Amino acid sequence: MANTIASVAVGMISSSTPKLLSQRPISRSSSRRFSTIKMTVSLDQKKKNFTLQKSEEAFNVAKELMPGGVNSPVRAFKSVGGQPIVMDSVKGSHMWDIDGNEYIDYVGSWGPAIIGHADDEVLAALAETMKKGTSFGAPCLLENILAEMVIAAVPSIEMVRFVNSGTEACMGVLRLARAYTGRMKVIKFEGCYHGHADPFLVKAGSGVATLGLPDSPGVPKAATIDTLTAPYNDLSAVEALFQSHKGEVAAIILEPVVGNSGFITPAPDFLSGIRKLTKEHGALLIFDEVMTGFRLSYGGAQEYFGITPDLTTLGKIIGGGLPVGAYGGKREIMEMVAPAGPMYQAGTLSGNPLAMTAGIHTLRRLKEPGSYEHLNNITSELIQGILDAGKKAGHAICGGYISGMFGFFFTEGPVYNFDDAKKCDTAKFGRFYRGMLEEGVYFAPSQFEAGFTSLAHTPEDIQKTIAAAEKVFRQI
Ligand SMILES: Cc1ncc(COP(=O)(O)O)c(C=O)c1O
Repeated sequence: MANTIASVAVGMISSSTPKLLSQRPISRSSSRRFSTIKMTVSLDQKKKNFTLQKSEEAFNVAKELMPGGVNSPVRAFKSVGGQPIVMDSVKGSHMWDIDGNEYIDYVGSWGPAIIGHADDEVLAALAETMKKGTSFGAPCLLENILAEMVIAAVPSIEMVRFVNSGTEACMGVLRLARAYTGRMKVIKFEGCYHGHADPFLVKAGSGVATLGLPDSPGVPKAATIDTLTAPYNDLSAVEALFQSHKGEVAAIILEPVVGNSGFITPAPDFLSGIRKLTKEHGALLIFDEVMTGFRLSYGGAQEYFGITPDLTTLGKIIGGGLPVGAYGGKREIMEMVAPAGPMYQAGTLSGNPLAMTAGIHTLRRLKEPGSYEHLNNITSELIQGILDAGKKAGHAICGGYISGMFGFFFTEGPVYNFDDAKKCDTAKFGRFYRGMLEEGVYFAPSQFEAGFTSLAHTPEDIQKTIAAAEKVFRQI
C-alpha cells in the first residue's frame, strides 16, 4: 500500500548512520557513481545566494516562443507556484541551473537517468557510435544487441519493436491488441497515464490533473468511445466492465505500480486478480512499464511481482536518456506487426544507433551486481527520513517506495487510487516544493508524480535531502 513502506528484500538503513562511500572529492568530468561529494559541499554556499533571475528572464522569453514556455506540460510549475527553472547541465545525481544553483535531482529526466546523468561510459560510447553516423534508416547491429538484452530481461517479451517514445509504444501496443483479438474496447485505470495518444486521454493522471483539465479538447469522442475506465486497485469494477461488455474487451492496460497519480502500489491481490480476469474473458493484459521497466528490478514490475502480462511497453531507461520506446510480448502476438504481419506501425528514427547505444550501456551498468540493492537502500532511507521528518513536524503525510521509485502525499492516507491521491494538500506541497528548491533539492513539480533515485545518489545526497526536509517541514 502506498501509505506504508513497501516490503523489500533489503533492510532499512538507519538515517542516523550515513555510510560515507568516499571522502575523496571527485571532479565533475571524471565523476561516476559517487560524483556528488564536492557538489554537496558547495550546496550550502550556493543557497545563501539563491536567485533565479537568469532563469526567470530566459523563461519569460520561452513563454513567447513555445506554448507555456515548455515542450512538455509536466515541466510547468503551475501547481507549485513560480516559474520552471531553466537548467544548464546535469551530472550524476545533480543538476545546475543557468543562475549557477545546484540541486540534488529526484526527477532523473522523468525516469531515464537511473545510472546517473551524463554517465561517462554512456557519453564515451555515444561519441564512438556517432563517428559512424546518427541514423541509418536501415537495420543496425546495435538493434539486435538491445533487443536481445530486453528479451532476456523482461519475462513477457519474446519479440520487441523499438519506437521513439513511450507514447508511441502505447499507441502501437493498443493497435496490436485490437488487431490480435479483433475486439475494440480497452480498459484503463483512472490516474494511469499511457502517453498522449487520443484513446488514452481519459482520466489520464498527473499532467492533465495538475493542469486542472478533465480531458483534452481536440480528442474526438470516437477515439475514446472504446476506452473504459475503472478505479485503480478495484477488481470488482473491472469485473463489472467485463460483464457489461462481454466479448468486446481487447485488453486491460495499466501501470503495474502507478507513478502518474503520485506513487501508488497495487494491492496484494490486484495484479494477480487482473491476470485471472483477463484470461477468463479472453482479453490481453498489457503492463505499461515505460516507468517501471528496469526500475523496480532488472525485469521490471512483472519480475518484481511475478505476474507475466501478454504485452509490455517500455521507454525511458531503455534509451539511457535518448528518445526511445518499445513494445513487446509473446512471439505469436508480435508476429502480427508489419512487415511480419498485417498490423501497420512504422518510424523513421526507430532503433537509431544513438538511442540503442545509450540503452545498451545503461542496461549493462544496471546488470552489475548490487545495482538494485543500492537503489533500494538509498530510497528506503530517503522516504523513511522524509516521512519521519514530516510527521515530527506535525504534518499528515504518507508515502512509500519500491527500489528506485518513491512518492509521498500530504494526507494521512491510505492512498489506493487517484481519488485518494486527490485528497492530499496540494497547497502545502507547493510550499514544501519551493522550500526544498531553495535548499537545493529538485523534486517533480507536482504532488501527483513519483520520484526517482539513481545509482549516482549517495548517502550524503540522502542525508542532505532529509536535513533540508526537516527544515522546510518546520516552516510550512
Ligand atoms: C507509464 C507511462 N506510459 C507512457 C508514458 C509516455 O512516455 P513518453 O513521455 O516517452 O511519450 C509515460 C511518460 O511519463 C509513462 O509514465
